[in-house]
Amino acid sequence: MSECHPLARRALAALEPYIPGRSAEEVAERYGVGQVTKLGSNENPLGVSPRVRDAVVSALERVHHYPDPGCTRLRRRMAARLGVAADQLMISNGADNVLTCIGLAFLDPGDRCILGAPSYTAYPSLALLMGATPVEVPLRDWRFDVPAMAAAAAGAKVVIVCNPNNPTGTILSHDEMETLLRMVGRDTLVVVDEAYAEWVEDPEFPDTIALLRRHPNLLVLRTLSKIYGLAGLRVGYAVAAPELIACLDRVREPFPVDRLAQAAAEAVLDDEGYVWAAFQNNLAGKAFLSRALTELGLRHLPSQANFILVDLGRPADQLAERLMERGVIVRPGTLWRLPTWARITIGTPEDNARLVEALSAVLREA
Ligand SMILES: Cc1ncc(COP(=O)(O)O)c(C=O)c1O
Repeated sequence: MSECHPLARRALAALEPYIPGRSAEEVAERYGVGQVTKLGSNENPLGVSPRVRDAVVSALERVHHYPDPGCTRLRRRMAARLGVAADQLMISNGADNVLTCIGLAFLDPGDRCILGAPSYTAYPSLALLMGATPVEVPLRDWRFDVPAMAAAAAGAKVVIVCNPNNPTGTILSHDEMETLLRMVGRDTLVVVDEAYAEWVEDPEFPDTIALLRRHPNLLVLRTLSKIYGLAGLRVGYAVAAPELIACLDRVREPFPVDRLAQAAAEAVLDDEGYVWAAFQNNLAGKAFLSRALTELGLRHLPSQANFILVDLGRPADQLAERLMERGVIVRPGTLWRLPTWARITIGTPEDNARLVEALSAVLREA
């Protein structure tokens, strides 16, 4: 832990800056590789939707005016798609920023925040930032342990479930989610982070939007960074009871989503063809990669998301370094205390083939 400036809040002493996946630009420059295949950050590999490009270009004309602070039109369209009321939605600068708002709105110093481990690393950081106590409940067979989470949640303020879970790609089923919600008291906020929901093929995946009707303490978190391909523009949202959304509205920035991002989000929401192509590409790519990893003798977890967690059987950060020298970025598992594992995003067929070729070569060398 590094020393903090004496002027900093005490909570900062427990925090380390978030370590993001490497960018393509950084890897290209550092390793002198012309073409970089980025499979480290779970983005949509198909590139920008043409509809988004057009919408952003026309929105550019008006960037001298502030954006709509409440994302009125986008919120109305999202609400209609989800079958909820517009006051059940809060849209912000990426799901990460919605998480920050959840912390600001609901976590007091000393509150307990129940998390699975390994899971998305922003959750414990958020709890620590607020002076709350993150309580990590180990996954069981790589899945959230519902009874253990529910037991830990007694008297806790917030529970966060990542479904599908990053980095494992595993899910909780509808029945398991209902059980968790039944076991956790109404005085505890249950946040279900569904950043990867749109990639799921398993019909047992929970319909959390329907569950909202019966669970006023449920908050569903989603993003347009993944299947909708807007990671670089930053649009995420919360769906919950209007009373919970009103709390988020009190702490959010005045203009959390810029004009270009709002225009892009409106354009891509109805772009069924783009989303369908991404989904199909992911299904095929996941099957291809899974077969290839099996042929390489590498254990990996069945995934419902757009990434696969694989045990490389040796220090993954060193192998990731070798892969970057060959222009391929993956995410080593050090972040999740899984030092021999790596998380690999499903790419285009060309990306996947390049990954397999590079991985075979570095494993041979190792
Ligand atoms: C589980 C999970 N939640 C939230 C986020 C953040 O999403 P956004 O890009 O909308 O901030 C990510 C990003 O990787 C994620 O994996």
